[in-house]
Amino acid sequence: MPDRTCLAIVLAAGEGVRMRSSLPKVLHAIGGRSLIDHVLTAAMRAGGADIAVVVGPDHAAVEAEAKRIAPKAEVFQQRERLGTAHAVLSARSALARKRDDILVIFGDTPLIRSETLAQLRGALAKGAAVAVLGFRPADPKGYGRLVMRGNDLLAIREENDGSAEERKIAFCNGGLMALAGDKALALLDRIGNANTKGEYYLTDAVAIARDMGLQAVAIETSEDDVRGINTKAQLAEAEAVLQKRLRSAALEAGVTMTAPDTVFLSTDTKFGKDVTIEPNVVFGPGVTVEDGATIRAFSHLEGARVGKGARVGPFARLRPGAELGADVHIGNFVEVKAASIEAGAKANHLAYIGDARVGEGANIGAGTITCNYDGVGKHKTDIGKGAFVGSNSSLVAPVKIGDGAYVGSGSVITKDVPADALAVERALLTVKEGWAKRFRAAMTLRKKSQR
Ligand code: UD1
Ligand code: MG
Repeated sequence: MPDRTCLAIVLAAGEGVRMRSSLPKVLHAIGGRSLIDHVLTAAMRAGGADIAVVVGPDHAAVEAEAKRIAPKAEVFQQRERLGTAHAVLSARSALARKRDDILVIFGDTPLIRSETLAQLRGALAKGAAVAVLGFRPADPKGYGRLVMRGNDLLAIREENDGSAEERKIAFCNGGLMALAGDKALALLDRIGNANTKGEYYLTDAVAIARDMGLQAVAIETSEDDVRGINTKAQLAEAEAVLQKRLRSAALEAGVTMTAPDTVFLSTDTKFGKDVTIEPNVVFGPGVTVEDGATIRAFSHLEGARVGKGARVGPFARLRPGAELGADVHIGNFVEVKAASIEAGAKANHLAYIGDARVGEGANIGAGTITCNYDGVGKHKTDIGKGAFVGSNSSLVAPVKIGDGAYVGSGSVITKDVPADALAVERALLTVKEGWAKRFRAAMTLRKKSQR
């Protein structure tokens, strides 16, 4: 819809008391992103160039999150919760600008797809004044029912206000709707609160449009699209639906997963060609895995880039700022944070590499630790190309290990090591020939004499 303007109004005034959390409901996350992030992203993808977010009182955190995702979003406050139509009207000054299409979206409906929103807009483009999303839930209890005559939507009846006959209708209101911009204020201002809840129902816009001789339509969608979140159980269900979508998309894009149901993805996880993901891998936000890389079982990655052909895990942890070059190997129980590991370098077992650069082809032995923190600040470790760090070494940052240098096993390195040098920090090794045998004989004798 390139030539139609659009305002998306996101309702995020819900207190979310049933979440039993001090975090506002829409700031809970699925797929590594807040609920309101999902909704705003879908709205923007559907062409919502103007965004209005309606928040409740004391919702500075919601406002900040909305602004982070949609910096130009206008934020309005709904001081009293008097119903969905009242919430929409809190954004009156935005509505008055008369965009072609007005989308009303609930902030707690994170699985809504931009394609579905685009369908609603499509109905307006074809002449409808109101377009709503209909779905057929397994259990319609609690939802508004869509009263249809053929393809015409006559009214939406809220559960509490419907007749017994109307409550039998299986076709329900998904909640979100699209309103023709030039009619929206006229419709909304006519909505009253003469219903069992005494609320201003957005859903009344349908019958009012009909009375004004305007057209209202319903577009059928899946239950998943309009799944609202009120509880932690529903949050977990939504996460499951999202994970299913993300896994299918990854498989479709050619990622090999032996047990996709055990792999957890973020919405922004990026995969190249011929990537293999073994079972039980978790991708937090901000991960890119390039062509031919393998992520082995039980690894946890976030904010990391895995270069071409690299191998990570099993049991590896990549934290934000981990940058692995081509063919890097990061093995079991290795943690990498804010470190760039250049092409072909290896840390195959039991190591911590933080705030560091590991040069091309360097080898990090088992048990190596970059001591990056002194209790006050963080410091950098720089390991040169082709360097060899022996097992169980502590590299006390800030420190540099030159290209091709060797660090002897068990060393605590507190000074820079020049290129091609050996640094070893150990007490002198003493070997006493025959000592153990003499020791055992003496001890055995002492034990016998004590009996
Ligand atoms: C709403 C619909 C119902 C539909 C259902 C789908 C109305 C009147 N009813 O009912 O037909 O089947 O969604 O889930 O619209 N909100 C505010 N301020 C308010 C009231 C609500 O911001 O004063 C926000 C809520 O935070 C929520 C959304 O609007 O995000 C929907 O409100 P809710 O109370 O959940 O409506 P339902 O009773 O579920
Ligand atoms: Mg609801």
